[in-house]
Amino acid sequence: MTLVFSGIQPTGNLHLGNYLGAIRQWVTLQQQYPCLFCVVDLHAITVPQDPAALRQHIYETAATYIACGINPEKSPIYAQSTVAGHAELAWILSCHAPLGWLNRMTQFKEKAGKDKEKAVLGLYSYPVLMAADILLFQATHIPVGEDQKQHLELARDIAGAFNRHYAQEFFTLPEPLILPQAARIMSLRDGTKKMSKSDPSDYSRITLTDDADTIRLKLRKAKTDPLPLPETVAELEERLEAKNLLTLYAAFKEVTLADAVTAQAGNTFAVFKDTLADVMIEHLAPISTEIKRLLGDVAFLDTVLQKGQQAASARAAGVLNGVKEIIGLPTL
Ligand code: AMP
Ligand code: TRP
Repeated sequence: MTLVFSGIQPTGNLHLGNYLGAIRQWVTLQQQYPCLFCVVDLHAITVPQDPAALRQHIYETAATYIACGINPEKSPIYAQSTVAGHAELAWILSCHAPLGWLNRMTQFKEKAGKDKEKAVLGLYSYPVLMAADILLFQATHIPVGEDQKQHLELARDIAGAFNRHYAQEFFTLPEPLILPQAARIMSLRDGTKKMSKSDPSDYSRITLTDDADTIRLKLRKAKTDPLPLPETVAELEERLEAKNLLTLYAAFKEVTLADAVTAQAGNTFAVFKDTLADVMIEHLAPISTEIKRLLGDVAFLDTVLQKGQQAASARAAGVLNGVKEIIGLPTL
């Protein structure tokens, strides 16, 4: 049976990369398939968090899911830490995940920086928790951005290792769903870096709560080159910032990159950026208004997260018991 699962860390600054790479796909998928959407707060604490900010960001992330079009009545939304099975299964899977596999994870290398001795264990075992998130529900399809591909491959490998070790096809191997046209949205300040929540420059990203003036200003300040916009897609390979802005235009207009290039060929960046701002504001203004409205109704968000927790816990219990049974641990 198909089950879609995905999650975002509640670390604030949800941006266009999160929206186009992940959440927008979720909204389409929920029309057709059963889905579960998690606010992955246990992943967030792999780097230091301020407790009050974390609490607020959990609400903000849930509000963003809903404002972008996830219907919590249909697709449960919940906080990862409220379903104990995530951490429990992560431990069990960690006993089936060779260090050699974890040592290959590029995100750990990036996040740990130069002094690996000081990196915490949770940052290192982060991908095992992610595998547990998915396998806890026997999720089949995982819509994410390109940066999560390696983690998903690891989740498949761990599932396979467990199945082989106990000689049964217990875990379903999850499939990544990565939209090629929005797999990697880049920073507005540097076309070689991905747009990220943690970039120190606010001008590197457009967030889902930015107002119209801020969006326009950030686009005006976005890095470009002196040439007019190109005539062909091939020319974009050398012009990463132009490529990124045209990718954003294509994503919001729901056309191909080739069509976006044709539509803007020969324009100056000043003209193109203004058009792009109009398109983006039209799409994002209702979302940011709705996020703000929902954040004013914490009681509603609490109810959503509570119902989500119940639905997710009920699903998780059967799988976790199955795992324990196979391993030889007492079941409830
Ligand atoms: P995170 O912000 O790391 O919690 O990521 C949440 C989701 O957004 C994941 O599916 C990521 O792959 C996706 N994502 C994050 N940044 C980008 C980006 N710059 N371009 C495309 N997808 C992204
Ligand atoms: N690691 C993912 C990210 O940073 C978030 C995440 C955690 C996730 N668990 C997941 C995504 C399970 C999909 C499925 O983007």
